[in-house]
Amino acid sequence: MSYPYKIKSFEEYQEAYKQSVIDPEGFWANVADHFYWRRKWDKVLEWNFKDPEVKWFIGGKMNITENCLDRHLGTLGNTPAIIWEPNDPEEHHRIITYRDLYNKVCQFANVLKNNGVKKGDRVCIYMGMIPELAIAVLACARIGAIHSVVFGGFSAQSIADRIQDAQCNLVITCDGAFRGNKDIPLKSVIDDALMACPSVKKVIVCTRTRTPVSMLKGRDSWWEDEIKQVETMGNPPCPAEEMDAEDELFILYTSGSTGKPKGVVHTCAGYMVYANYTFVNTFQYQAGEVFFCTADIGWITGHSYIVYGPLSAGGTTLMFEGVPTWPDAGRLWEIVDKYRVDTLYTAPTAIRSLMSFGLGPVNHKDLSSLKKLGSVGEPINEEAWHWFKDNIGKGKCPIVDTWWQTETGGIMITPLAGITKEKPGYATLPLPGIQPILVDENGKEVEGNGVNGNLCIKFPWPGMLRTTYGDHERCRKTYFSTYDNLYFTGDGCLRDEDGYYRITGRVDDVLNVSGHRIGTAEVENAINMHAGVVESAVVGFPHDIKGQGIYAYVISEKLTHEPELTKKDIAQTVARIIGPIAKPDKIQFVSGLPKTRSGKIMRRILRKIAEGDLDNLGDTSTLLDPAVVEEIKRGKI
Ligand code: PRX
Repeated sequence: MSYPYKIKSFEEYQEAYKQSVIDPEGFWANVADHFYWRRKWDKVLEWNFKDPEVKWFIGGKMNITENCLDRHLGTLGNTPAIIWEPNDPEEHHRIITYRDLYNKVCQFANVLKNNGVKKGDRVCIYMGMIPELAIAVLACARIGAIHSVVFGGFSAQSIADRIQDAQCNLVITCDGAFRGNKDIPLKSVIDDALMACPSVKKVIVCTRTRTPVSMLKGRDSWWEDEIKQVETMGNPPCPAEEMDAEDELFILYTSGSTGKPKGVVHTCAGYMVYANYTFVNTFQYQAGEVFFCTADIGWITGHSYIVYGPLSAGGTTLMFEGVPTWPDAGRLWEIVDKYRVDTLYTAPTAIRSLMSFGLGPVNHKDLSSLKKLGSVGEPINEEAWHWFKDNIGKGKCPIVDTWWQTETGGIMITPLAGITKEKPGYATLPLPGIQPILVDENGKEVEGNGVNGNLCIKFPWPGMLRTTYGDHERCRKTYFSTYDNLYFTGDGCLRDEDGYYRITGRVDDVLNVSGHRIGTAEVENAINMHAGVVESAVVGFPHDIKGQGIYAYVISEKLTHEPELTKKDIAQTVARIIGPIAKPDKIQFVSGLPKTRSGKIMRRILRKIAEGDLDNLGDTSTLLDPAVVEEIKRGKI
């Protein structure tokens, strides 16, 4: 495949950027022209950030799977679409060509239809990283069902919240999932979740781990049996549902600073164009290359850069079921070696964790196929950046430090691999079409270079979220009300003397733990459900591997005789309610929390104490009871 909109030099980047600002509609229409449309759009863009209302390619009709599958069959039918590496390196890998993938997606789309799924229905997908997960996602898109993928590490309660919010009527899961030496009983977690989800009428279970499961009569059926039924029908074709450009493609839940996770909604055409454009340009993808993104499809990175970006570009995407440290810390390098991977896209937390094992696991692996490296999810520290550059990229591979969010649908600020001059720790420059702006607390633009501010975006881009599912007002409030006419990212940012952007981290109460986004309020709510807890406050603290760890200050009902046991029990409660990723790393019992006279917890002070910066707590005179701070400090020592 050729990509006429692929930028080939820094001059071309500058020109494309300029064009995208002068004439955004013309710019994106030129990109969108290279996709397959059933009907072209009447108008490129309508927008306001007040309501907000954003529509791209208005009147256009298409289906994203025709762009990811059908249009490649003629030329790429026998090309690998997905290379799948299992958790256990002894197990056989799978290679799925575009033709295979097309057939499997159509087959499973017919399964969904047989089960009454229609355009617009919501389908929850809770599976491990096996090809059937990608097939399930694409099968939903094929028939216009809206997928809501939930990461396999979330608890029954978290799944139930998400299913109820979206009123899903069908769930696709597996008996279990392999991750390293663990076997996660997905079906049994789903069974617990569904006790509270009357909207779900059907559960389709794919066999993976052969973990014993109980099947509910009338509700549950096996993936394999469902496929057999379609086979007995003679494997009829499954024409793609014609979708309006602005029909919903998927919901993906993510944490914010308040309340429960919200369902970020992405729509068909804009998301497709943006995922593809950012994939091809950021990674400078060339036909035939093997692209390895280590994320899970349960996160946006997996949606955009394992499934939709690479497949819409006719690329070969490598999907890995396991974890980087099992059976040993050489696993990723072994995979690179085995499949001659061209691009490796991973997270700083994985790099830091692998760094701690030294060079032993890297040595004797042939990494000569690597041409490009990528990082995503959290700020990358210079040490990790250099280690990645020197030992994995052998000094010759560019690193793209890509900044973006679930809400943005695709990469926003990043170097173009091998084109943009890189600087460790910097996401560098915005992609064409992206107009970042830094503002101070009062919403005033911070102009010039060598400045800091809150990062906002002032013009729409095709991949941006359209709403939060079932609650448009929440979308407006969260992203579009802090500053007039701007999308507020929640991130702090520095623009240096060269105009390069460096993301400094969240400025709201959202934590980034191992690249996973977790709201402090969510963790507090879970802790407060423990019978022994009166109140709690959660903050982040710097963590060598995870980037940020979770520190919880807890007021307990009565001073417990077994504080360590109680702490364990509280952590366990959080794992049960949210999932293991949200478990506090440290819990400190306190008798009170530092509050202002109006009752607001002063997190700034708690953050400082958690960081161990006890001498710089700043002004504590506005506190209701300054003595509380002294007590917390003593407890910390
Ligand atoms: O704080 C930023 C951080 O991750 C947040 C978005 O998280 P999520 O929606 O889960 O998406 C993660 C994968 C796209 C951002 O608000 N973040 C993401 N990428 C970077 C980053 N921080 C610094 N540098 C990055 N490259």
